[in-house]
Amino acid sequence: MEAPGRIWFGYVAAVALALIGLYTRDPLAFGLAVAVLVATVLGEWYRGRQARITAAARDADLPDLVVRWARGWAYARAFPRPVAVPGGVRVEVGEPGRRVEWVATDHADTLADLVDTVSATPEAWLSVVTESPAGVRPWFVEAGLTDQADEEAMMSIALADHASRDLPEGYHAETVRDGGLIKVTVRAAGAEEEAASGQMAVIGSDAVADRIKTDPAHRRRGLGGAVMSLLAAAAREAGADHGLLFASEMGEPLYVALGWRVEARLVMARSSAPQTSDESRHA
Ligand SMILES: CC(C)(COP(=O)(O)OP(=O)(O)OC[C@H]1O[C@@H](n2cnc3c(N)ncnc32)[C@H](O)[C@@H]1OP(=O)(O)O)[C@@H](O)C(=O)NCCC(=O)NCCS
Repeated sequence: MEAPGRIWFGYVAAVALALIGLYTRDPLAFGLAVAVLVATVLGEWYRGRQARITAAARDADLPDLVVRWARGWAYARAFPRPVAVPGGVRVEVGEPGRRVEWVATDHADTLADLVDTVSATPEAWLSVVTESPAGVRPWFVEAGLTDQADEEAMMSIALADHASRDLPEGYHAETVRDGGLIKVTVRAAGAEEEAASGQMAVIGSDAVADRIKTDPAHRRRGLGGAVMSLLAAAAREAGADHGLLFASEMGEPLYVALGWRVEARLVMARSSAPQTSDESRHA
């Protein structure tokens, strides 16, 4: 996190007042110079303190966001409920090449054990939420894990701030809610096959977006934005106020344009067992 900038104008004003005092020999100007200097120093201290508090709150939030995201993701995909482990969660994905996945933060104390556990587990994945992908990758290499190379972004949004995009002409959308799962499917008029789709799991006040996709023949026409808008609106109706997702490289610019904010990066590795499936990594 960047340190807050200096309050230069405070120092400039204090020096100017001191010079005026020197020139006019007016004690009031000297008094004002001291007062402005003290106020500037106190102001800088206060801003620094606020910045440190915000950074600490952000660090404390990530583990919580990981747990909340994993709960929604597992619900959307009908996986068993994630199990809390030191540093994150373990999810029984049950796919060939990806039987089990640990999703964790990059805290050094817990990451050391996790990379060892994953490397000793066949068909396992490790996904690490971090602000420093380059700092995490060497842990993968050292433990003999296969780095997945590509990167995702953990993103969030206050759903009230979600942009609203209309469906382009010539398409119609269907929104279906089943328990806590909302699915949106878009088709071109008169067509059977899906042009775009996506789902959101609503758990309490969280809505976790999953499997957002547009068929290549229909991309860059606004369908992805419309699907997200419909999902966000339906999730708000279902009681959610906060969105969470892991974005692919293709999805990230779309979500940013809709108002989502990047919380951290996500790097992934897998144990050396042959992988037969990498379809739709997290979203
Ligand atoms: C990511 C994905 C869902 C986007 O779907 P999409 O239907 O193309 O999304 P949109 O059309 O709403 O927006 C995509 C881009 O098209 C642009 N666009 C929107 N309407 C447009 C129009 N009428 N004409 C031209 N471009 C348009 C958007 O501004 C956006 O531009 P940007 O990428 O430069 O920011 C799609 O690329 C995809 O399925 N990718 C593979 C799966 C994937 O990665 N899914 C995301 C998982 S997190």
